[in-house]
Amino acid sequence: MKRQEFSRAVELLQAGQLVAFPTETVYGLGADAANPDAVARIFAAKGRPADHPLIVHLAGSAYLDRWARAIPNVAWELAEAFWPGPLTLILKRAPEVPYAVTGGQETVGVRVPAHPVALDLLRAYAQAGGGHSGLCGIAAPSANRFGRISPTDAAHVREELGNSVALVLDGGRCPVGIESTIIDLSRAGDQPPRLLRPGHITPEQIATVIGIFPELPDVQQAVDTPRVSGSLDAHYAPLTPMQLVKTEQLSAFIGGLQQDGRRCGLLAHTRRTPAVAPAHALRQLPDDAQGYARGLYAALRELDQAGNDLIVVEDIPAAPAWAAVSDRLRRAACGSGEE
Ligand code: TXA
Ligand code: MG
Repeated sequence: MKRQEFSRAVELLQAGQLVAFPTETVYGLGADAANPDAVARIFAAKGRPADHPLIVHLAGSAYLDRWARAIPNVAWELAEAFWPGPLTLILKRAPEVPYAVTGGQETVGVRVPAHPVALDLLRAYAQAGGGHSGLCGIAAPSANRFGRISPTDAAHVREELGNSVALVLDGGRCPVGIESTIIDLSRAGDQPPRLLRPGHITPEQIATVIGIFPELPDVQQAVDTPRVSGSLDAHYAPLTPMQLVKTEQLSAFIGGLQQDGRRCGLLAHTRRTPAVAPAHALRQLPDDAQGYARGLYAALRELDQAGNDLIVVEDIPAAPAWAAVSDRLRRAACGSGEE
């Protein structure tokens, strides 16, 4: 990417405009995190409720104490082990952090992304003084309309947000493909860290670094208390209804649909799935969790746009390695088919 493009991006951010950029997980819709008016533009462009907190992206952990206070040792340990990378830490917010970015809460989500374009942008931004109050943070939710499928390609961002974003930096396809792992380190006293959103970095990996296994999300509670917008059930969702079906039941299920004249798309990962007609309605993803995650959102987006009556998803293994993918599929199925 050309130097001028980063300069232009930095100027736009400093002027309170929106710049979309690739991260290793998904594309983010960026704005100066210290400028409440710029942050308000993010919510307007996404159609997202204003009480949903955003993740602040930093050029490195050297910027962490501008955004957070009372940072526990475990946070520094995790930053050291996983940054730059797909891990978001929830910490107590520093006094300068506007409530616009924390959704009115006393905590803030922060991460250092690993994508070279994101890092170059963050570094150029910091070098140029970094927006309001010199805090050097870029707030960026996934660059999709609220509740919809996250973008993993620059073209997806343009599809989702059109002219409401001033500039889209194109860094190709995102290598991880699903959103960062979120871990809450802001709780009082000796309460253990809590996993708020599963992702590429697993609770097992976190435990290896800090010596404590994080508390896992209670699924029912996540549905009842949507403080994390990722924990709202209607999320990451296609407009076409979507249903998970076990591998051994696929033949009968799809046969029945076709008899009823219903057009379905199939998202498969094993080679044991039946033929679907027309053939273009099949998306075959890799049979390992990381490869599957990388291709998932693009495949769902394509099946969503292919004029299907139903998207049938071959169910995935219940193994821990698939936990993050399982989380996204469950939410996508739950929110699917809603305009
Ligand atoms: O991989 C990612 O995290 C991507 C890329 C662009 O970095 N970003 C992303 O942002 O997924 P978003 O806004 O779509 O999801 C961020 C999640 C939301 O569910 C939000 O509620 C949660 O992080 N979050 C942010 N700050 C929080 C806080 N202070 N307390 C609890 N949850 C928080
Ligand atoms: Mg999102």
